[in-house]
Amino acid sequence: MILTPKLFSLVRPAIFALDSETGHRLAIRALKAMPARRSRQSTAALAVEVAGLQFPNPVGVAAGFDKDGEVPDPLLGLGFGFTEVGSLTPLPQTGNPKPRLFRLVEDQAVINRMGFNNGGAEAALVRMKARQGKPGIVGINIGANKDSDDRIADYAKMAQLMTPYASYLAVNVSSPNTPGLRALQDEGALSALIDGVIEARDAVAQGDAPPVFLKVAPDLEPADIDAIARIAHDKQLGALIVSNTTISRPSLSSRHASEAGGLSGAPLRKLALKRLRDFRQATGGGVPLIGVGGIASAEDAWERIRAGASLVQLYSAMVYHGPGLGAQIARGLERLMKRDGFTRLADAVGSE
Ligand code: FNR
Repeated sequence: MILTPKLFSLVRPAIFALDSETGHRLAIRALKAMPARRSRQSTAALAVEVAGLQFPNPVGVAAGFDKDGEVPDPLLGLGFGFTEVGSLTPLPQTGNPKPRLFRLVEDQAVINRMGFNNGGAEAALVRMKARQGKPGIVGINIGANKDSDDRIADYAKMAQLMTPYASYLAVNVSSPNTPGLRALQDEGALSALIDGVIEARDAVAQGDAPPVFLKVAPDLEPADIDAIARIAHDKQLGALIVSNTTISRPSLSSRHASEAGGLSGAPLRKLALKRLRDFRQATGGGVPLIGVGGIASAEDAWERIRAGASLVQLYSAMVYHGPGLGAQIARGLERLMKRDGFTRLADAVGSE
């Protein structure tokens, strides 16, 4: 039985009675217990190619939901077109003290300051090796340890370790919860970082090297956007993921509104869409874009695709509507494509 958003609304009060992290652990446990199934959520219309990868549909799970790579196959089985494991760091990390994850129910939002809690590269590698050869696009999102004295070396190390198992590598320089991390988005540092990652990847890649994607913050100035677009173009990045959570605070009504951390979900939608349009303009359509932030419906996903996204990802909306939402959005997208006269998703990208 698939937990559709409608059925999820019945169990939601029980999940929301738990604190958010316990609720999340429960979700991972439930996904682990799901019988294995192949996704059927693909049609010729929804299929899209990005960076040489064939995505069965454009709706993916954003990083942070399955940090340790425990449930990529159940998520794909639910109908997501791809999923992104991580962020993972070389050494295990406990992250920030709890509480650090807050549901803002009235705002359909989440604030988190998890701080890259994860079981580390070694533990994740065991899981990634175990699923090698299975179908489905599983990206691996990489980060640096908080206490590392050479963060660029951490990213290079992660690229080297994960290259054999990743459909793509996502370089995360945009988490607001590791002090100083976002400074790696500055042009000089970013250029050195990407060179390090590509070099480490190429040293171990046999045959097809996984493309490198870069995940950026929504809190960027126009000059930052131009610099990142230039680097993406010059280093031939496979895609830009726009965006991570925001440190800005649009008007919110929940009692958790003033918690520190990154804000995601509905209040991020407008800003993430604007940044996507900014990057579309800055790259002139020359670098594929992945739209993330506040996507909760097929209409949201369609708007992002028409604004220039070849793929979309979501996390917070799953907290409110359950993991069956991905398949529902994919089906809805097909309906919207037909309504607007498109037979192939690729033709709709940036068509607004
Ligand atoms: C995240 N996100 C995230 N991103 C990332 O690159 N690495 C990570 O480890 C995490 N961790 C994480 C934890 C939690 C609890 C949340 C809510 C989010 C960011 C996420 O991938 C996404 O970019 C944003 O949440 C915006 O999308 P949504 O949630 O509005 O759909």
